[in-house]
Amino acid sequence: MTYDDAMMALSSDALKFVKDGYVVGLGSGRAATALVKLLAKIIKLKKYSIKGVPTSLQIKLIAEEVGIPLIEADQVDYIDVVFDGADQIDSQGYVIKGGGGALLRENILFSLAKKIVVMADKTKFVKDFTIKVPVEIHPLARKSVTSSINKLGGSVNLRILDRGYPFFTENGNIILDCDFGTIKNPKILTQKIKQTAGVLESGIFLRKPDIIYKAKENGKFDII
Ligand code: A5P
Repeated sequence: MTYDDAMMALSSDALKFVKDGYVVGLGSGRAATALVKLLAKIIKLKKYSIKGVPTSLQIKLIAEEVGIPLIEADQVDYIDVVFDGADQIDSQGYVIKGGGGALLRENILFSLAKKIVVMADKTKFVKDFTIKVPVEIHPLARKSVTSSINKLGGSVNLRILDRGYPFFTENGNIILDCDFGTIKNPKILTQKIKQTAGVLESGIFLRKPDIIYKAKENGKFDII
């Protein structure tokens, strides 16, 4: 049994939160991809009328391929349930997202969601956050935000692609990956980061998931 087996098993379990007629938020990344593929099968099998709201072109392409009807976030008043992955989950239940650069749209979906289901493997669960926090900013705010993050005790790396070009998000912005070491108070830090002009989104989301699935390497999973 592998991580992928566990992801398939927990995705299959998580789909119990989907009902006919639902608007379903489709997160980005590997965990969300596994779920979207299974969701398509359920829709066909049960003849459900579902609309998916994508958080990125990555998941939109997968959803199109498997035939899930799509709608954009600005065409709905709410989303019944959002399924997404995470880069790290702390013991308070906060998540860091944005490893793939889709954090702004992901957090918009979180804000519209009646229920949020996050799925991740056990290596991502920590007592306190330790990974770099992705911060999506307007390109012209690069220096001013860098200075603000430095004042908050963080060191900043502009996210760069393999061949040396800066990474641009689907929204035309850039990402600063900010190292704060161990983060004891994610809520206060996030509030401070978001106060800076030019910051569009922080990878620490203040809305906590309602349900968290933890995949284990033996192919099993826990629900938190
Ligand atoms: C996309 O920007 C991210 O927030 C992803 O949801 C996150 O990186 C988790 O991805 P995986 O499921 O691929 O680990």
